[in-house]
Amino acid sequence: LWFEELSPGYPVIKIDNRHAKATIALLGATLIEYTPTGSQPIIFTSSKAIFQEGKAIRGGIPVCWPWFGPHPSDNSKPNHGFARDRFWELKSTTKHEDYTEVTLEFDTRQVANELWPQHTTAEITFRIGQALDVQLTSCNRSDSSITIGGALHTYFDIAHISDVSVIGLDGVTFADKVTNKHGTQSGALSFTKETDLVFEKTMATTTIDDRGNSRQIHVAKNGSRSTVVWNPWIEKSAGMGDLGNEDYLSFVCVETANAFDDVYTLEPGAIHTLGTTITVNTSLS
Ligand code: BG6
Repeated sequence: LWFEELSPGYPVIKIDNRHAKATIALLGATLIEYTPTGSQPIIFTSSKAIFQEGKAIRGGIPVCWPWFGPHPSDNSKPNHGFARDRFWELKSTTKHEDYTEVTLEFDTRQVANELWPQHTTAEITFRIGQALDVQLTSCNRSDSSITIGGALHTYFDIAHISDVSVIGLDGVTFADKVTNKHGTQSGALSFTKETDLVFEKTMATTTIDDRGNSRQIHVAKNGSRSTVVWNPWIEKSAGMGDLGNEDYLSFVCVETANAFDDVYTLEPGAIHTLGTTITVNTSLS
């Protein structure tokens, strides 16, 4: 485990144990690389990602916190909260037999009072081993109740979007953010256009069938009853300065979320943990 600077003033933590390699940026506590030994990378990071304070990384696992998407009542506040483009503090690193554990913390006392007046902390723990486990715990340290949402906005690296489906959401209702309609998923989800779906009331493990890489990536979750599936497709990608024009072919976001109605009211002193465990199976054929 060691530190490097991706660019001046932009430290990352590098982990390399017998099970996997990983890189975690202190900015946003964003994991930008996870590659199990003998496997292809699991996590996609844009070749045009901008590594600078105040800019969320396009790729990796941005931590959307303490809300998901636009702020529910004030659209002058940043999309996906304010923690993904600010520095987190490294709390501890521990090497275990089967994994390396890294914990970082974000304290809302570092943001303007207008943005979030009530003292709240987020602690994120990564376990890097044969599986990638990520647990984000919010704690209300103020003396009144707060509402917490968010997401582990994971960009998965895939061989080709036309050769991918997401399994595990059959029969689940969704809000479609592209058409503004509701629907129910039938069978596996595949991709032929811009996709931005918030699946509701689901705690299911999803599986990304990445056929081009002959592998399946399993995304289990806890503390989450919503799953967001996103791919910007051609036009939207073209409008994003930090994503290459063809990059949409190489990733899909499957986000372990607390989105829309799936938010948590925390009384003073209360905590909520949102987490995901990612594993990969490579077919032997
Ligand atoms: C997804 C949202 O989670 O994130 C999309 O559902 C959004 O609507 C996407 O476009 C990317 O957001 P951003 O702020 O990182 O460009």
